Amino acid sequence: MTSPAAQAEAETFYLKDYTPFGFEVESVQLTFRLAPHATRVLSQIRFTPKPGAADPQFFLHGEKLNLISAKIDGVAVSPVITAEGLTCDTPAEPFLWEAEVEIDPASNTALEGLYMSGGMYCTQCEAEGFRKITYYPDRPDVMSTFTVRIEGDEEVLLSNGNPVSQSQGLAEWHDPWPKPAYLFALVAGDLVNHPDTFTTRSGKEVELNIWVRPGDEDKCAFGMEALKKSMTWDEEAYGREYDLDIFNIVAVDDFNMGAMENKGLNVFNSSCVLASPETSTDANFERIEAIIAHEYFHNWTGNRITCRDWFQLCLKEGLTVFRDAQFTADMRSASVKRISDVIDLRARQFPEDQGPLSHPVRPEEFQEINNFYTATIYEKGAEIIGMLKRLVGDEAYRKALDLYFDRHDGQACTIEDWLQVFEDSTGRDLTQFKRWYAQAGTPRLKVAESFADGTYTLTFEQSTAPTPGQPDKDPRVIPIAVGLLNGNGDEVQPTTVLEMTQAKQSFTFEGLASKPVPSILREFSAPVILERDTSNTERAFLLAHDSDLFNRWEAGNALSREARIAMVLTGAAPDASYLDALQKLVRDDSLDPAFRALILQPPSQSDIAQALFERGHLPDPQKIYDAAETLTQTLAQQLADSLPRLYADTTVQGPYQPDAVSAGKRALNGRILSLLTRLDGGDQASRQYDAADNMTQQYAALAALLTAEKGTAQSQAFYQQWQGDRLVMDKWFALQVAAAPPEATAHIASRLTEHPLFTLKNPNRFRAVMGALAGSHAGFHHASGAGYQLLADKLIALDSLNPQTTARMCTAFQTWKRYDAPRQALIRQQLRRIKDTKGLSRDTNEMVSRILD
Ligand code: ARG
Ligand code: ZN
Repeated sequence: MTSPAAQAEAETFYLKDYTPFGFEVESVQLTFRLAPHATRVLSQIRFTPKPGAADPQFFLHGEKLNLISAKIDGVAVSPVITAEGLTCDTPAEPFLWEAEVEIDPASNTALEGLYMSGGMYCTQCEAEGFRKITYYPDRPDVMSTFTVRIEGDEEVLLSNGNPVSQSQGLAEWHDPWPKPAYLFALVAGDLVNHPDTFTTRSGKEVELNIWVRPGDEDKCAFGMEALKKSMTWDEEAYGREYDLDIFNIVAVDDFNMGAMENKGLNVFNSSCVLASPETSTDANFERIEAIIAHEYFHNWTGNRITCRDWFQLCLKEGLTVFRDAQFTADMRSASVKRISDVIDLRARQFPEDQGPLSHPVRPEEFQEINNFYTATIYEKGAEIIGMLKRLVGDEAYRKALDLYFDRHDGQACTIEDWLQVFEDSTGRDLTQFKRWYAQAGTPRLKVAESFADGTYTLTFEQSTAPTPGQPDKDPRVIPIAVGLLNGNGDEVQPTTVLEMTQAKQSFTFEGLASKPVPSILREFSAPVILERDTSNTERAFLLAHDSDLFNRWEAGNALSREARIAMVLTGAAPDASYLDALQKLVRDDSLDPAFRALILQPPSQSDIAQALFERGHLPDPQKIYDAAETLTQTLAQQLADSLPRLYADTTVQGPYQPDAVSAGKRALNGRILSLLTRLDGGDQASRQYDAADNMTQQYAALAALLTAEKGTAQSQAFYQQWQGDRLVMDKWFALQVAAAPPEATAHIASRLTEHPLFTLKNPNRFRAVMGALAGSHAGFHHASGAGYQLLADKLIALDSLNPQTTARMCTAFQTWKRYDAPRQALIRQQLRRIKDTKGLSRDTNEMVSRILD
């Protein structure tokens, strides 16, 4: 155990310190002799010293390994071993390194390296887990071909690449594509498969499998379809074909993240692949489709072209998120996807970028890389790709990507390589654009307008507040998509992209008959905060007329935000014109139901808190909660006459189908039901609960009832029905907390942690309860501080078992400086308590220290 003092001195890694490894790794051969508490790993690795290498020292990473023996060219050696790895004298010529280590997968609760989950063996190596399996240069720029031999009693023994031989108790796999160790995977268990095949467009047949525990085989069909759609889409949209004979997906219950793109052997959190109408909601189906696509797309953006070092993480993640968003837009509705993504960006990335954890999309330093799998790197990283595409145009984007794959296939690359490809293929200078990668913080974009003699002028001013370590910010290139409407709501200027490069810059539009109404930042063309003095009348006008669906939604969102801010600050009644506009839209059957559902989804309470804070007010979570309740109640009353008709019209008949159109209808139906439940005492929701033959409707009914403080009987029935299904029980746990009134949230969450089905060892279950607590704005920030204390208690308890999930969950505290002094004091006290915990992990220590700073 390290002492708190030692933790404070945890090593920091810097981008500027990059040096290549001094050896080529020609080939890797691994043998696993599986045993729960004493797995033996034998490695045979061929190294060739690089002539004239800057760092010829032979250092192999290795953590918590029991070295049994080590040899070089068949002769026993005695390496110098530390907590981080080993060094050894090596020959000047190519040599064979052989080592045998023993590890204990059954005791591995951190779920990194080789561990066990529900009796099966499983690995997670990204980012630095391979060093917990054997001694190795565990860095992404060291790429090699792997041959893996697995000896075990399990029926199914899987690794990367193509199968070489399979027999009882033994399997051998060979992956012909050189890869870094973070893409290594091994799975062994008594699993069953859902098989299929896919023929690539050049005619190569690929065997596909989704491997699950017996009993789950009826939950694989949807994931398999999503996989085949992804394979086709990547061929059509990017010209990328699959490159092995087999593609395996495995579902695992205990997993720290969503899924992992190991070459030819993707490992998925079971919540991100298993789907059935009875157990999964529409939202689950959509998420599963997107994650399967994401991991599959990594085969080219991540695996064939990987990252030089972990500072370049956004090279693969930002691009792959962008690609999976394009895929979802093509499979479903592009505008609905865009709106949902922006809601998500504002909920997760904006607070990160505006708080103590703010970091550049390409960070320059870290202590624990696992702490940098963030919304900034993933989602803002994807926004950067979107801006680049908008600036160069679709055709030039495709051309640049072709060059990227051509030039860098088989390499470990940097952001410089990526931008160079665009510079070379378009002739554009991207020096200034690169600031998006280097500068943290969300730019604010102030807009002023003027009109004279048919000329309309928009003047933009950009600024970015200081972020940790970056006091001064330079102007960035901002693509601002703009359209203009006349007083009748007709578009007089179709969408055009203004390219802003200065701190302050004006753009003019000529030949206009009258002063237009601008629609600015269409499709949310840049991840910035738009600041514009505008009236609710104009917002209502855009909400009614804008041809850009994103900005229509945005206008409604702003109206809702302003209405709620006014309610919080002055105790005013909900704004009448807003309620009016909303009612019209909800009743407008010509509009996509999914869009109407989004219009009915108010800005989150955390968003309102942030908006209040930015305007110089201390957000009071209880008041924000009350305003949201009043607004919903008022809306329900005003819509009272139409609700039964709307409910009936949006009810999807016939057998459940997870397609986007049906899902959109059900989303609207669920919103209508929750409004109805405020008026009818829960009658309709109870009927829906009893009649539901799918989880979307069953869950929507239960959520509506519990939120209205009804539904005790249904909640018990739900528990009885689903207690044997882990994934459904996660929903049950989360909903108890999410639906609780603020004063009861912490108490209910606390009671649930005593429930026999609660366990610290399953990240999904932990997140179900603690994530719902942190996500309940008024409940978590209740003035008693009970929410803060409970979360800290559980984080402290989890840290010694699973540092990664603990550290991730610390982000619940990142917005603490928004709140009043008593709350800040309560939070600081809990953060200190966590930080002072003896033996605290490096992961959690880094997060808490940054948040406290
Ligand atoms: N590369 C995986 C994915 O995109 C996620 C891995 C997360 N790893 C981690 N250490 N947090 O989707
Ligand atoms: Zn990814």
